[in-house]
Amino acid sequence: MRRELDPEGATARPAREKPAGVRPQAAGVLRRNDPEHWTKPGPSLYPHQWSWDSAFIALGLAHLDNHRAKRELESLFASQWATGKLPHIVFNPDAPPQSYFPDAERWSSAAVSSDAPSSPHTSGLCQPPIHAVAVLRIWETAQGKDERRVELARDFLRDTYPRLLAWHLYLTTARDPEGSGLVTIYHPWESGTDNSPRWDATLEAVEVGDLPPYTRYDLKHVADPSHRPTDEEYNRYLWLLELLKKARYDEATIYESHPFLVKDVLFSAILVAANEALSKIAAAVGAPDEERALIEGWIERGRKSLDERWDPDLKLCLDYDLRAGKPARVRTVAGFAPLIAGGLDSKRLQDLLETLDSPAFAGHPRLRWPLPPSTSPEEPGFHPRSYWRGPIWPVANWLLWWSLLRVGESERAERIRRATLDQLADGGFAEYFEPFTGEPLGSPDQSWTAAVALDLLAAGSG
Ligand code: DGY
Repeated sequence: MRRELDPEGATARPAREKPAGVRPQAAGVLRRNDPEHWTKPGPSLYPHQWSWDSAFIALGLAHLDNHRAKRELESLFASQWATGKLPHIVFNPDAPPQSYFPDAERWSSAAVSSDAPSSPHTSGLCQPPIHAVAVLRIWETAQGKDERRVELARDFLRDTYPRLLAWHLYLTTARDPEGSGLVTIYHPWESGTDNSPRWDATLEAVEVGDLPPYTRYDLKHVADPSHRPTDEEYNRYLWLLELLKKARYDEATIYESHPFLVKDVLFSAILVAANEALSKIAAAVGAPDEERALIEGWIERGRKSLDERWDPDLKLCLDYDLRAGKPARVRTVAGFAPLIAGGLDSKRLQDLLETLDSPAFAGHPRLRWPLPPSTSPEEPGFHPRSYWRGPIWPVANWLLWWSLLRVGESERAERIRRATLDQLADGGFAEYFEPFTGEPLGSPDQSWTAAVALDLLAAGSG
């Protein structure tokens, strides 16, 4: 019998129709995208388990079914690499044939690297490390519930802490051999903001070699191919994959030879925020003092390094291309990275809020909802319908809402929360939205959209 997500978190019962409303609808999306112990990011476009999608999904599930939320992350952590890396995709052996490309065979992770698990297969990349934040949310939502539930959540915290520590250790060492405090990504897919103009200059410098033939399946799952990255971008994505595979996913080899090495400020800021969560988890499980000091050091170094990537004219933080030796001077939501990392002085905070409220982002006069487009409409690379080139992403709104709350900007946070929920009530749980018309775009019934809606709803009266 199919298990319905249970708000009480304990019993199984048959699925039934629920009355309309954002919360039950969001729960319904997660239920329908759930093959059993993990959740597909979307019903058809993404038939496997994706790393940061799953973390957001767990965060939402924590409000419905604590046990199922834990299973979500346990299933992801079961595929952690020996290096500590959490892979960006865990392949679902039961996915319909020809439903997603590049598939496990194209990645060949276990065939070329002894660090990779082979059952199930995984990709060779990683994604932004929001996981510790989700683990902490699972712990927080269990508080005040019955003793058994709190005990189970404590066990989960104890089991997960060493895995999270290994993951963050991987990111702060293998992905930051310079000890800069910023994480290096090897592929736009690692950023989670695939075709953002943040990557245009670096990608343009990548010369595509002898690329094995491939067929894109992603285009058949969206209403209009212009919502997705272009073929030119895909050729470069696939070429980078070939190069990583050729390097046998070995970090030192990649660092020597790879054409795409970028210090990603959004990824790095999420790591700082996740380290704050990890620090709380470490305290809750009674981790040794040296580990707690290590985590505090990561937080401090991460914030300092983001400060060094600040552009005083744009009043945003910029990624840094290690190969070209220069920053990517383009205004995208990633530029709000210092807000996500927190610990700001008041001048930096005011500058960031000014940028957020300006016509370059949430203050643009034509916006359907006062929410920041993924790329500023004032940028030449802006496109209102193309993936990360302009559409509004509910998951990015969540990050800003959560960050504003953490820096004490509760009124502004509430405005983002309300506008995001209004947008979802109007347009459903789309992957992203056209900023001027509010039209839902990309994959419909996207799990992380539903999950962040649940978390936003739990934070207020509706
Ligand atoms: C995709 O296939 O669109 C993903 O973003 C890559 O992870």
